[in-house]
Amino acid sequence: MNALNLIRTRRSIRGYADQPVLPDLIDQLLEAATWAPSSHNRQPWRFAVITTQDAKDQLADRMGERLWSDRARDGDPAEAIERDVNRSRERIISAPVIIVACLSPIDLDHYPDERRNSLERTMAVQSVGASIQNLLLAAHELGLGACWMCAPLFCPDVVRQVLHLPDDWEAQALITLGYPANVGKSRSRVDFREITVWR
Ligand SMILES: Cc1cc2nc3c(=O)[nH]c(=O)nc-3n(C[C@H](O)[C@H](O)[C@H](O)COP(=O)(O)O)c2cc1C
Repeated sequence: MNALNLIRTRRSIRGYADQPVLPDLIDQLLEAATWAPSSHNRQPWRFAVITTQDAKDQLADRMGERLWSDRARDGDPAEAIERDVNRSRERIISAPVIIVACLSPIDLDHYPDERRNSLERTMAVQSVGASIQNLLLAAHELGLGACWMCAPLFCPDVVRQVLHLPDDWEAQALITLGYPANVGKSRSRVDFREITVWR
């Protein structure tokens, strides 16, 4: 598919066929992710690939526990929390492949002041986001479906512990992946003319 069509036709896919994804395809996605631009070409992205049911279950359960305690502290009704926790859990355990995208600050520049350190970190977050978008587009090109989930951002300590990740890996997002069971929700976009100024 040409790049513009690929960009336009990619949708978040949240349901997957019962068909495994070959490791070679996962490698292609990861390589595509690493061709994203990054600030100073520092490539702050890191990826954890999860394919075993046991690891998916553990990750979903432990993240679910954190979601429960956070939402309970907010004072949300138990039924609403349970519904959301179960929905999130089901999404994670039923996806053939999970990729957790992380940020490592290890190669970032350090400044004497907090303002520039914070901007440096923003650039790293932007860079990881660009790598995730590359991965989503590559998945679409290869006939796979994927969905970006923000859940790990709320519990990077839990994710690091369950997956035995290095200390400097900060989970940013979780990508569910597999062959699409549906075409995804139809989504519109605000017309770019309404959100653009030319000077
Ligand atoms: C930073 C970010 C976080 C997201 N988190 C979630 C999520 O937790 N759960 C989910 O189902 N979709 C999530 N999405 C996917 C968006 O809902 C989706 O991209 C948006 O609705 C537009 O739909 P489309 O991707 O099909 O065009 C996330 C997307 C981004 C960029």
